[in-house]
Amino acid sequence: MTTESHTGERLLALVTGGSSGIGLELAKQFAHAGYDVAISGQSERVHTSAQALRELGVDAYPFQGDAATFDGVEGFWTFVADLGRPVAAAALNVGIGLGGAFVDNNLEADLRVVAVNVTGTVHMAKRVVQHMAANGQGRILVVSSISATTPTPFETVYGPSKAFGFSFAESLREELKDSGVSVTALLPGATDSDFHANAGMGNTRFGDNSWKNDRRLVAQQGFEALMRGDDHVVGGDEATRQVVVDNRTLPEAVKAARQAEMTRPGSS
Ligand SMILES: NC(=O)c1ccc[n+]([C@@H]2O[C@H](COP(=O)([O-])OP(=O)(O)OC[C@H]3O[C@@H](n4cnc5c(N)ncnc54)[C@H](OP(=O)(O)O)[C@@H]3O)[C@@H](O)[C@H]2O)c1
Repeated sequence: MTTESHTGERLLALVTGGSSGIGLELAKQFAHAGYDVAISGQSERVHTSAQALRELGVDAYPFQGDAATFDGVEGFWTFVADLGRPVAAAALNVGIGLGGAFVDNNLEADLRVVAVNVTGTVHMAKRVVQHMAANGQGRILVVSSISATTPTPFETVYGPSKAFGFSFAESLREELKDSGVSVTALLPGATDSDFHANAGMGNTRFGDNSWKNDRRLVAQQGFEALMRGDDHVVGGDEATRQVVVDNRTLPEAVKAARQAEMTRPGSS
């Protein structure tokens, strides 16, 4: 694995939503491999997370902004571009969930899921792809979900937003195959982070983090697939991979009913 550019400088990676959860673990993977990292997050903790990454012996550049807004996404890209270095790898990881019944959730919350997970991903991908294609090299990781392989009742906007990410990554990969830029999708199963608590799903089967996949394992699997240039990888244990295999053949209605048992408010 190359971790130095031809000038001997360390390579640079960016991770959106790199201040906690899977994103922070991805940033640590890059740091352990000798990459400097630029990370974004919405809250103050992006700065303390950057400090933790520096302690791994690399440079870390934190950017605080709201990925649900055009200015928040563009601001992070401008911040990275102003470093004046080629971006060797980009993990488009930031994503938010939203539990509850569609009929009850407010429209602003639904549209915020689309803004961060879909619009924001397209926006950052545009900047990253044009930059990497001009350089003739780069690696892009799009963090989707195994939710991309099933209907997701009671996360009715979230699941389709992740299906978008998976299809987007596979489509872009084909377009870029002769450009020197690789695109990989990471499909984590349920993972132990703040994600479901932030999504208001504490009273569902996803409220308990104890049975979920280890976020370090998920990030390692994503990082290794990215470095191999694989088209996609499922993040998690053997049971998680089996769910994705089963989802290829199970009828959509069967999957929807099974998923609702886990996500219906009160199912905990
Ligand atoms: N956890 C799971 O079970 C699971 C399963 C499948 C897929 N995924 C996907 O994995 C990705 C990472 O999820 P996670 O589990 O690590 O979630 P998480 O623990 O909630 O972390 C989310 C990260 O994104 C940042 N963020 C959230 N909203 C933002 C906004 N509006 N603007 C800027 N930054 C924002 C957070 O920053 P702050 O530090 O400011 O909060 C944090 O760094 C997501 O795309 C998610 O869909 C997760």
